[in-house]
Amino acid sequence: MAGNWKMFKNPAETTAFFEKFLPQVAGATHCEIVLCPPAINIPAAVAATAGSRVEVGAQNLYWKNEGAFTGEISGPMIKAAGAAWVIIGHSERRQFFGETDATVLERTKAALAAGLKPIVCVGEMLAEREAGETEAVLHQQFAGGLAGLSAEEFARVVIAYEPVWAIGTGKTATPEMAADAHRIIRGRVEAAFGGNAAAAVRILYGGSVKPDNVKGLMAQPEIDGALVGGASLEAGSFASIVNF
Ligand code: 13P
Repeated sequence: MAGNWKMFKNPAETTAFFEKFLPQVAGATHCEIVLCPPAINIPAAVAATAGSRVEVGAQNLYWKNEGAFTGEISGPMIKAAGAAWVIIGHSERRQFFGETDATVLERTKAALAAGLKPIVCVGEMLAEREAGETEAVLHQQFAGGLAGLSAEEFARVVIAYEPVWAIGTGKTATPEMAADAHRIIRGRVEAAFGGNAAAAVRILYGGSVKPDNVKGLMAQPEIDGALVGGASLEAGSFASIVNF
């Protein structure tokens, strides 16, 4: 169960969140729990979660280890700061910051090389769904962003299916719609990496996951977890999602 804070909270607010959140998930051993704050808050999050089962992630990385790339941060920097995960190819990065399937692949390889666990996001826009192109879009994103990994690399990747029309809109995909998309993605994994990889890969659903709809989504065997935006910002709400 992963939270993506996007561009919300400062270091003090990060510390305050974990003071409330950790006691509420102390009994949760059924899943891994990951919070991805803005990079500036990673040290505060790592300090606050020390000794707990909760892990910290970044929301993006650049694929070079260091260099004259003003404004960027690298996988080894994220790792050295104590984070274990990184979100890659979020639809907001694709829409607003020029992320492409090719750069998703570069970033994913760099994350793996740095020893980070990537959460690679895919998902169609509303116009694409309405045009009946969901399957084609998912095929294309998988082919460009993930199929170029080695089998050994792919085994360390988590995929997040986030239909863009369901993000921050309050419109969740129905559990059946999400499961259908997850089946399409798992089919691509099978074609590229074989049946064992398809059975093993974890596919998270993201898009308006809330305490009151998480149970229905998680009841689908295809859905292995959630990537939560808005509802991960408040400790009680993300704790009830984790404890669904
Ligand atoms: P919301 O849960 O706010 O819809 O955001 C989903 C998301 O983009 C998580 O990465």
